[in-house]
Amino acid sequence: MTPTLATSTTSRPPEGAAAAMDRSGGDASSALLEVRGLHAGYGKAEVLTGLDLRLPRGNVVTVIGPNGAGKSTLLNALMGVLPARGDLRFEGQSVARSTLEERVMMGLALVPEKRELFGTMPVEDNLVLGGYRLMRQGQRQWRQGLERVYTLFPRLKERRAQLAGTLSGGERQMLAVGRALMGDPKVLMLDEPSLGLAPLVVREIFHTISQLRETGVSILLVEQNARAALEVADHGYVLETGEIVLQGPARELAGDPRVIETYLGAKRAPAGETAGD
Ligand SMILES: Nc1ncnc2c1ncn2[C@@H]1O[C@H](COP(=O)(O)OP(=O)(O)OP(=O)(O)O)[C@@H](O)[C@H]1O
Ligand SMILES: [Mg+2]
Repeated sequence: MTPTLATSTTSRPPEGAAAAMDRSGGDASSALLEVRGLHAGYGKAEVLTGLDLRLPRGNVVTVIGPNGAGKSTLLNALMGVLPARGDLRFEGQSVARSTLEERVMMGLALVPEKRELFGTMPVEDNLVLGGYRLMRQGQRQWRQGLERVYTLFPRLKERRAQLAGTLSGGERQMLAVGRALMGDPKVLMLDEPSLGLAPLVVREIFHTISQLRETGVSILLVEQNARAALEVADHGYVLETGEIVLQGPARELAGDPRVIETYLGAKRAPAGETAGD
Protein backbone atom coordinates (compact mmCIF):
# COMPACT_ATOMS: atom_id res chain seq x y z
CA MET A 1 0.00 0.00 0.00
CA THR A 2 1.13 3.53 -0.72
CA PRO A 3 2.02 5.48 2.40
CA THR A 4 -0.22 8.51 2.48
CA LEU A 5 0.25 11.77 4.26
CA ALA A 6 -3.40 12.71 4.32
CA THR A 7 -6.10 11.58 1.92
CA SER A 8 -5.54 8.31 0.11
CA THR A 9 -6.43 7.79 -3.54
CA THR A 10 -9.16 5.36 -2.68
CA SER A 11 -10.85 6.79 0.38
CA ARG A 12 -13.11 9.80 0.03
CA PRO A 13 -11.85 13.05 1.49
CA PRO A 14 -13.72 14.33 4.52
CA GLU A 15 -16.42 16.91 3.89
CA GLY A 16 -14.96 20.36 3.42
CA ALA A 17 -11.75 18.90 2.11
CA ALA A 18 -13.72 17.92 -1.00
CA ALA A 19 -14.41 21.56 -1.84
CA ALA A 20 -10.77 22.39 -1.36
CA MET A 21 -9.69 19.62 -3.69
CA ASP A 22 -11.88 20.75 -6.53
CA ARG A 23 -11.25 24.40 -7.23
CA SER A 24 -13.95 24.69 -9.87
CA GLY A 25 -16.64 23.61 -7.46
CA GLY A 26 -17.32 20.34 -9.28
CA ASP A 27 -17.75 16.99 -7.67
CA ALA A 28 -14.36 16.28 -6.13
CA SER A 29 -15.18 12.63 -5.57
CA SER A 30 -14.97 12.03 -9.32
CA ALA A 31 -11.65 13.43 -10.47
CA LEU A 32 -11.26 14.88 -13.96
CA LEU A 33 -8.64 12.24 -14.66
CA GLU A 34 -8.34 9.07 -12.65
CA VAL A 35 -6.29 5.93 -13.13
CA ARG A 36 -6.38 2.71 -11.16
CA GLY A 37 -4.05 -0.21 -11.61
CA LEU A 38 -2.16 1.28 -14.54
CA HIS A 39 0.35 -1.03 -16.19
CA ALA A 40 2.63 0.24 -18.95
CA GLY A 41 6.07 -0.45 -20.34
CA TYR A 42 8.05 -1.41 -23.37
CA GLY A 43 7.48 -4.88 -24.76
CA LYS A 44 8.05 -7.37 -21.98
CA ALA A 45 9.68 -4.80 -19.73
CA GLU A 46 6.92 -3.48 -17.50
CA VAL A 47 7.73 -0.08 -16.02
CA LEU A 48 4.47 0.85 -14.26
CA THR A 49 3.05 -2.01 -12.26
CA GLY A 50 -0.41 -1.04 -11.09
CA LEU A 51 -0.28 2.69 -10.47
CA ASP A 52 -3.16 4.74 -8.99
CA LEU A 53 -3.41 8.48 -9.51
CA ARG A 54 -6.09 11.15 -9.61
CA LEU A 55 -6.19 14.68 -10.96
CA PRO A 56 -9.08 16.68 -9.50
CA ARG A 57 -10.55 19.38 -11.74
CA GLY A 58 -8.71 22.70 -11.57
CA ASN A 59 -5.78 21.26 -9.62
CA VAL A 60 -2.09 21.06 -10.26
CA VAL A 61 -0.88 17.56 -9.41
CA THR A 62 2.80 16.79 -9.56
CA VAL A 63 4.68 13.52 -9.93
CA ILE A 64 8.25 13.73 -8.74
CA GLY A 65 10.90 11.05 -8.82
CA PRO A 66 14.41 10.19 -9.97
CA ASN A 67 15.69 9.42 -13.48
CA GLY A 68 14.18 6.26 -14.90
CA ALA A 69 11.34 6.09 -12.33
CA GLY A 70 8.72 5.95 -15.07
CA LYS A 71 7.47 9.54 -15.08
CA SER A 72 7.55 9.97 -18.86
CA THR A 73 6.18 6.47 -19.30
CA LEU A 74 3.22 7.50 -17.13
CA LEU A 75 2.42 10.61 -19.19
CA ASN A 76 2.83 8.77 -22.48
CA ALA A 77 0.53 6.00 -21.26
CA LEU A 78 -2.12 8.53 -20.16
CA MET A 79 -1.89 10.33 -23.49
CA GLY A 80 -2.23 7.09 -25.43
CA VAL A 81 1.22 7.33 -27.01
CA LEU A 82 2.12 4.06 -25.26
CA PRO A 83 -0.17 1.07 -24.86
CA ALA A 84 -1.34 0.59 -21.27
CA ARG A 85 -3.58 -1.61 -19.16
CA GLY A 86 -5.79 -0.52 -16.30
CA ASP A 87 -8.81 1.58 -15.44
CA LEU A 88 -8.38 5.02 -17.01
CA ARG A 89 -11.19 7.53 -16.64
CA PHE A 90 -11.57 11.04 -18.00
CA GLU A 91 -14.61 13.01 -16.78
CA GLY A 92 -15.92 9.76 -15.32
CA GLN A 93 -15.88 7.91 -18.66
CA SER A 94 -13.55 5.03 -19.41
CA VAL A 95 -11.03 6.07 -22.05
CA ALA A 96 -8.71 3.09 -21.75
CA ARG A 97 -9.54 2.08 -25.30
CA SER A 98 -9.41 5.57 -26.82
CA THR A 99 -6.70 6.37 -29.33
CA LEU A 100 -4.24 9.25 -29.06
CA GLU A 101 -6.33 11.29 -31.52
CA GLU A 102 -9.52 10.66 -29.55
CA ARG A 103 -7.81 11.74 -26.33
CA VAL A 104 -6.63 14.95 -28.00
CA MET A 105 -10.19 15.68 -29.11
CA MET A 106 -11.47 15.01 -25.57
CA GLY A 107 -9.12 17.66 -24.24
CA LEU A 108 -5.92 15.90 -23.15
CA ALA A 109 -2.63 17.54 -24.14
CA LEU A 110 0.98 16.55 -23.54
CA VAL A 111 4.12 18.64 -23.74
CA PRO A 112 6.69 15.86 -24.15
CA GLU A 113 10.15 15.81 -22.63
CA LYS A 114 11.68 16.34 -26.07
CA ARG A 115 9.70 19.38 -27.08
CA GLU A 116 9.31 18.17 -30.65
CA LEU A 117 8.97 21.54 -32.28
CA PHE A 118 9.31 22.09 -36.01
CA GLY A 119 12.64 23.92 -35.97
CA THR A 120 12.60 25.05 -39.58
CA MET A 121 9.13 26.56 -39.26
CA PRO A 122 8.27 29.96 -37.75
CA VAL A 123 6.91 30.22 -34.21
CA GLU A 124 3.39 31.02 -35.40
CA ASP A 125 3.23 28.02 -37.75
CA ASN A 126 4.20 25.77 -34.84
CA LEU A 127 1.29 27.22 -32.87
CA VAL A 128 -1.08 26.83 -35.79
CA LEU A 129 -0.24 23.13 -35.94
CA GLY A 130 -1.26 22.80 -32.30
CA GLY A 131 -4.64 24.37 -33.03
CA TYR A 132 -6.14 21.44 -34.88
CA ARG A 133 -8.79 20.79 -32.24
CA LEU A 134 -9.83 24.46 -32.10
CA MET A 135 -9.78 24.72 -35.89
CA ARG A 136 -12.50 22.07 -35.96
CA GLN A 137 -14.58 24.24 -33.62
CA GLY A 138 -14.36 27.23 -35.96
CA GLN A 139 -12.15 30.06 -37.15
CA ARG A 140 -13.14 32.41 -34.33
CA GLN A 141 -12.24 29.99 -31.53
CA TRP A 142 -8.97 29.32 -33.26
CA ARG A 143 -8.04 33.01 -33.49
CA GLN A 144 -8.97 33.48 -29.83
CA GLY A 145 -6.73 30.55 -28.97
CA LEU A 146 -3.80 32.20 -30.72
CA GLU A 147 -4.45 35.49 -28.92
CA ARG A 148 -4.66 33.67 -25.57
CA VAL A 149 -1.24 32.12 -26.13
CA TYR A 150 0.23 35.48 -27.16
CA THR A 151 -1.23 37.14 -24.06
CA LEU A 152 0.33 34.48 -21.86
CA PHE A 153 3.66 34.60 -23.72
CA PRO A 154 4.16 38.09 -25.21
CA ARG A 155 7.66 37.02 -26.21
CA LEU A 156 6.23 34.49 -28.63
CA LYS A 157 4.17 37.24 -30.24
CA GLU A 158 7.29 39.37 -30.69
CA ARG A 159 9.02 36.39 -32.26
CA ARG A 160 6.09 35.00 -34.21
CA ALA A 161 8.06 35.04 -37.51
CA GLN A 162 11.32 33.64 -36.06
CA LEU A 163 12.23 30.05 -36.86
CA ALA A 164 11.49 27.81 -33.87
CA GLY A 165 14.92 26.22 -34.12
CA THR A 166 16.60 29.54 -33.36
CA LEU A 167 14.70 30.20 -30.09
CA SER A 168 16.41 30.10 -26.71
CA GLY A 169 15.74 27.14 -24.39
CA GLY A 170 13.17 29.06 -22.36
CA GLU A 171 11.42 30.36 -25.48
CA ARG A 172 11.27 26.85 -26.90
CA GLN A 173 9.61 25.68 -23.72
CA MET A 174 7.08 28.54 -23.95
CA LEU A 175 6.38 27.57 -27.55
CA ALA A 176 5.90 23.91 -26.61
CA VAL A 177 3.44 24.89 -23.85
CA GLY A 178 1.77 27.43 -26.15
CA ARG A 179 1.31 24.85 -28.85
CA ALA A 180 -0.35 22.46 -26.39
CA LEU A 181 -2.62 25.30 -25.20
CA MET A 182 -3.71 25.93 -28.80
CA GLY A 183 -5.81 22.79 -28.39
CA ASP A 184 -7.68 24.47 -25.49
CA PRO A 185 -7.07 21.37 -23.35
CA LYS A 186 -8.87 20.46 -20.15
CA VAL A 187 -5.83 18.55 -18.93
CA LEU A 188 -2.32 19.75 -19.66
CA MET A 189 0.44 17.24 -18.99
CA LEU A 190 3.91 18.71 -18.74
CA ASP A 191 6.98 16.49 -18.85
CA GLU A 192 9.82 18.22 -17.00
CA PRO A 193 9.17 21.77 -18.22
CA SER A 194 12.17 23.07 -16.24
CA LEU A 195 14.68 20.67 -17.79
CA GLY A 196 17.87 22.41 -18.90
CA LEU A 197 16.65 25.92 -18.13
CA ALA A 198 18.40 28.61 -16.09
CA PRO A 199 16.90 29.30 -12.64
CA LEU A 200 15.34 32.59 -13.71
CA VAL A 201 13.62 30.96 -16.68
CA VAL A 202 12.48 28.09 -14.46
CA ARG A 203 10.80 30.67 -12.19
CA GLU A 204 9.06 32.15 -15.22
CA ILE A 205 7.81 28.75 -16.38
CA PHE A 206 6.45 27.89 -12.93
CA HIS A 207 4.80 31.29 -12.72
CA THR A 208 3.09 30.48 -16.01
CA ILE A 209 1.89 27.18 -14.55
CA SER A 210 0.17 28.95 -11.67
CA GLN A 211 -1.34 31.48 -14.10
CA LEU A 212 -2.67 28.63 -16.21
CA ARG A 213 -4.24 26.97 -13.23
CA GLU A 214 -6.15 30.20 -12.57
CA THR A 215 -7.67 29.89 -16.05
CA GLY A 216 -9.14 26.52 -15.04
CA VAL A 217 -6.79 24.13 -16.85
CA SER A 218 -5.99 21.06 -14.77
CA ILE A 219 -2.31 20.27 -14.83
CA LEU A 220 -0.35 17.07 -14.36
CA LEU A 221 3.24 18.11 -13.87
CA VAL A 222 6.16 15.70 -13.99
CA GLU A 223 9.33 17.16 -12.54
CA GLN A 224 12.75 16.42 -11.16
CA ASN A 225 12.79 19.92 -9.71
CA ALA A 226 10.82 18.75 -6.69
CA ARG A 227 11.08 22.01 -4.79
CA ALA A 228 9.51 24.15 -7.51
CA ALA A 229 6.95 21.49 -8.39
CA LEU A 230 5.72 21.08 -4.81
CA GLU A 231 5.48 24.84 -4.44
CA VAL A 232 3.10 25.19 -7.37
CA ALA A 233 1.13 21.94 -6.91
CA ASP A 234 -1.92 21.11 -4.80
CA HIS A 235 -1.10 17.42 -4.49
CA GLY A 236 2.03 15.39 -5.08
CA TYR A 237 3.06 11.83 -5.79
CA VAL A 238 6.55 10.37 -5.42
CA LEU A 239 7.28 7.78 -8.10
CA GLU A 240 10.22 5.41 -7.66
CA THR A 241 10.95 2.44 -9.95
CA GLY A 242 7.44 2.40 -11.34
CA GLU A 243 5.62 2.64 -8.03
CA ILE A 244 4.05 5.43 -6.04
CA VAL A 245 5.93 5.30 -2.75
CA LEU A 246 4.46 8.41 -1.14
CA GLN A 247 1.69 10.89 -1.82
CA GLY A 248 -0.16 13.71 -0.14
CA PRO A 249 -0.97 17.41 -0.22
CA ALA A 250 2.01 19.16 -1.82
CA ARG A 251 2.70 21.32 1.22
CA GLU A 252 2.86 18.31 3.50
CA LEU A 253 5.05 16.35 1.09
CA ALA A 254 7.46 19.28 0.98
CA GLY A 255 7.79 19.00 4.75
CA ASP A 256 8.19 15.22 4.83
CA PRO A 257 11.67 14.19 6.02
CA ARG A 258 11.95 11.46 3.36
CA VAL A 259 11.16 13.94 0.59
CA ILE A 260 13.45 16.57 2.07
CA GLU A 261 16.35 14.20 2.30
CA THR A 262 15.98 12.57 -1.11
CA TYR A 263 14.46 15.27 -3.28
CA LEU A 264 14.94 18.67 -1.73
CA GLY A 265 18.66 18.26 -1.20
CA ALA A 266 18.69 19.54 2.36
CA LYS A 267 19.84 17.34 5.20
CA ARG A 268 18.08 17.75 8.50
CA ALA A 269 20.32 19.25 11.14
CA PRO A 270 20.57 16.94 14.17
CA ALA A 271 18.79 18.34 17.20
CA GLY A 272 21.04 20.46 19.39
CA GLU A 273 23.70 20.86 16.69
CA THR A 274 26.02 23.73 17.41
CA ALA A 275 27.37 26.01 14.77
CA GLY A 276 31.04 26.61 14.09
CA ASP A 277 32.58 23.16 14.49
N1 LIG B 1 11.50 3.36 -25.59
C1 LIG B 1 11.91 2.62 -24.55
N2 LIG B 1 12.24 1.32 -24.69
C2 LIG B 1 12.63 0.56 -23.63
N3 LIG B 1 12.74 1.03 -22.37
C3 LIG B 1 12.44 2.32 -22.17
C4 LIG B 1 12.00 3.18 -23.24
N4 LIG B 1 11.78 4.41 -22.72
C5 LIG B 1 12.06 4.31 -21.41
N5 LIG B 1 12.45 3.06 -21.07
C6 LIG B 1 12.81 2.59 -19.72
O1 LIG B 1 11.70 2.74 -18.86
C7 LIG B 1 12.09 3.18 -17.56
C8 LIG B 1 11.34 4.44 -17.22
O2 LIG B 1 11.72 5.47 -18.12
P1 LIG B 1 11.05 6.90 -18.13
O3 LIG B 1 11.56 7.62 -19.32
O4 LIG B 1 9.59 6.76 -17.97
O5 LIG B 1 11.66 7.52 -16.78
P2 LIG B 1 11.56 9.02 -16.24
O6 LIG B 1 11.08 8.91 -14.83
O7 LIG B 1 10.80 9.86 -17.17
O8 LIG B 1 13.12 9.45 -16.21
P3 LIG B 1 13.79 10.88 -16.53
O9 LIG B 1 13.63 11.66 -15.26
O10 LIG B 1 15.22 10.53 -16.78
O11 LIG B 1 13.11 11.49 -17.70
C9 LIG B 1 13.61 3.35 -17.64
O12 LIG B 1 14.18 2.20 -17.08
C10 LIG B 1 13.89 3.45 -19.12
O13 LIG B 1 15.17 2.95 -19.42
MG1 LIG C 1 11.28 11.46 -18.33
